[in-house]
Amino acid sequence: MLTDNFAQNGAVGADRDKQKQMTVGNSADLSENNIFDDETVPSENDKYMIRCENLVKIYKTSDVEVVALQGLDLDVEKGELVGIVGNSGSGKSTLLNMLGGLDKPSAGSLIVDGKNLLKFSDKDYMDYKRNTVGFVWQNNARNLIPYLTALQNVEMPMLLKGSKKRRERAQELLDKVGLSQRVNSKLDQLSGGEQQRVAIAIALANDPKLILADEPTGAVDTKTSEMILDIFKDLNKTEGITIVIVTHDLKLANHIDRVVAIRDGRTSSEIIRKRSMAEELVKLGDIVNANESTEAIREEFIVLDRSGRLQIPKDYIKSLGIKGGDKVKVELDEKTGRIEIFKSSI
Ligand SMILES: Nc1ncnc2c1ncn2[C@@H]1O[C@H](COP(=O)(O)OP(=O)(O)OP(=O)(O)O)[C@@H](O)[C@H]1O
Ligand SMILES: [Mg+2]
Repeated sequence: MLTDNFAQNGAVGADRDKQKQMTVGNSADLSENNIFDDETVPSENDKYMIRCENLVKIYKTSDVEVVALQGLDLDVEKGELVGIVGNSGSGKSTLLNMLGGLDKPSAGSLIVDGKNLLKFSDKDYMDYKRNTVGFVWQNNARNLIPYLTALQNVEMPMLLKGSKKRRERAQELLDKVGLSQRVNSKLDQLSGGEQQRVAIAIALANDPKLILADEPTGAVDTKTSEMILDIFKDLNKTEGITIVIVTHDLKLANHIDRVVAIRDGRTSSEIIRKRSMAEELVKLGDIVNANESTEAIREEFIVLDRSGRLQIPKDYIKSLGIKGGDKVKVELDEKTGRIEIFKSSI
């Protein structure tokens, strides 16, 4: 049996239809609210690899409905590397599954590489998974076939696609992830970090424009996770591949320039790394003083969604002594450009 990675990065159909889904309205109704309603979307969106608007995913099981994504907005530009963080159950994997074409959104708009995934046929999904995205999972049983060597594992998606010069390309990719010495090793002869690097090489096999990694460093130590992140950063920089990495590891997230936090199935805040003084000086050509300050500034912003909603941080709510459902007073101070929120007596 093929692993999920080959189903994703290779040619096998997705299991997205196994899940009983609840669709809000039908797709024709939904498209009325979408800003893009054709499968291919106009060129003004060319700068974006991902445009998610008001994305909703509802899982319906026999007794409950879970709204895993509750109107999520997310734009990722081509060539960006973005981290996604959030508590367990906040919807990170659900989002990645939608982006990877493993599952279909219930409502909203999802454009990847200029294509409207809500309009996809099964064949479109298969082409998309074969040609546009590569997936790396935390669990290596999902990424790799245990009885094959590293080299054979990397060749597999290319074999499924019928690509030529597979052996050379697989060698090259294993070299890229620093494993040229281990091409003939099988899964149980490789460490967790090495297996993850093979998984990255597999994800790269079909030249994807977008790599999606769900907790790729969840099962390795800090040093190895940093090394794996460096491989992703290098691929992003040298090959311009857009990369989205889900991580629980906030320390690791600190090394990513743009980190989006998801709360309750919605984008709640973004942490953006600004250039450090040293980097500014290097840019200005003032290299002499470049060593003075190497501290990059990271700033957290709350995301105002397209309907004007924002998620107030939980600790702010707690310190005001209010809870969800309460009425609060909101005042605008135009002079200072501030909006203030007060606990109301009602
Ligand atoms: N196939 C499914 N059927 C029903 N509910 C699901 C399914 N997949 C996810 N959910 C629910 O959707 C919500 C979001 O789950 P998701 O796996 O996206 O969270 P996550 O942020 O990836 O969490 P974690 O950090 O634990 O991996 C959860 O409440 C989860 O129980
Ligand atoms: Mg998850």
